Amino acid sequence: MPHAAASGRLLVTGIGELVTNDPAPDREGGPLGILRDAALVADDGVITWIGRSGDAPSLEATADSPHPHRIEVLDARGRAVIPGFVDSHTHLVFGGDRAEEFAARMAGRAYEAGGIRSTVAATREATDDELRARLAGFVRELHGQGTTTFEVKTGYGLSVVDEERLAQLAAEVTDEVTFLGAHVVPAEFTERAGGADGYVELVAGEMLQACKPHVRWVDAFCERGAFDAEQSRRVLEAGRAEGLGVRVHGNQLGEGDGVRLAVELDAASVDHCTYLSEADVAALAGSRTVATLLPGVEFSTRHPYPDARRLIDAGVTVALASDCNPGSSFTSSMPFCIALAVREMGMTPAEAVRAATAGGAAALRRTDVGVLRPGARADLALLDAPSHVHLAYRPGVPLVAETWKDGARVA
Ligand code: NIG
Ligand code: FE
Repeated sequence: MPHAAASGRLLVTGIGELVTNDPAPDREGGPLGILRDAALVADDGVITWIGRSGDAPSLEATADSPHPHRIEVLDARGRAVIPGFVDSHTHLVFGGDRAEEFAARMAGRAYEAGGIRSTVAATREATDDELRARLAGFVRELHGQGTTTFEVKTGYGLSVVDEERLAQLAAEVTDEVTFLGAHVVPAEFTERAGGADGYVELVAGEMLQACKPHVRWVDAFCERGAFDAEQSRRVLEAGRAEGLGVRVHGNQLGEGDGVRLAVELDAASVDHCTYLSEADVAALAGSRTVATLLPGVEFSTRHPYPDARRLIDAGVTVALASDCNPGSSFTSSMPFCIALAVREMGMTPAEAVRAATAGGAAALRRTDVGVLRPGARADLALLDAPSHVHLAYRPGVPLVAETWKDGARVA
């Protein structure tokens, strides 16, 4: 277990605006379920009570929590509290960086999936301790910006030994680890060495077996320059047969088969969704598959932003995630993604905040995070602002004052 829950009771009082994502008749903000002048109680890391500040239970023992051995009080002093962000898409285990590639792109060069191979070389060279230290730094960044649940993908190892190593390292910091052996075909798989199809067999066979004990999900980059629909399906079905949940990278660089494949396989999420046909939107609308949008990528590649409005209006569940990785999106900031989604993708501040919390939880098929209600985890961000709207209204300003995960302060 990457993180220990707090033992004892936490009381958060004086919350000017509490975003619960749990709508009720006495709450505002539609799906955000906003409660004003609110308080929240958590016992042993799980929320046990939410209501008006004046009605908060006393800190003394109750039937539910007869002997709280530790009592902590957080006075929000009229500020906003939201569910901790759920970042359902990151690639945080890697060596090196690609600042030069970014600079060249900003000077006019195009983004290409093949850049992944340079990170693969740097990652294979890095020791476990180097990767672990880097990862710990990213976890601090995430917590500091209000993220309390995050997914991490493998995908920069691309050999049996290295993918297993990355899966193990990722599992040290999160329960949401994704096997992405099908990220790109590594350089050593020349045609003589078996080519793309030979590599796919390795991924769906020995590599999956090595990674399986450490991961919850399987993913494939279904895109020109990476894997076609049949190759992606081979890997995803092999993972599914081993009990893993399915996620897909699709429709990032152009229209393609990613969304169709994801819906067909009942994937929890298809991520990127930058280029969608009408049929893709209709397929998503009729499915349980979440469309996860990653605006940091469009920011860093100068591609057009995905059209969130079109998806939401069609009834698709949308999530926002950082896609933090050294190539296409080197940001770990969910507030930055929210601001981009509002400014560039047609989302309202309320929709963007919900997509970054409850949306991310849906993309991970989780009901215990991304929402503040009794029974859910006490994962929350206290904002240095009176309202969630400020996350988009004040872009680039570090508005997360404190982050609490499982009832314990982590930043
Ligand atoms: O989600 N699309 C594929 N993978 C990453 C990019 C990885 C890289 O460029 O290193 C992504 O954007
Ligand atoms: Fe990605």
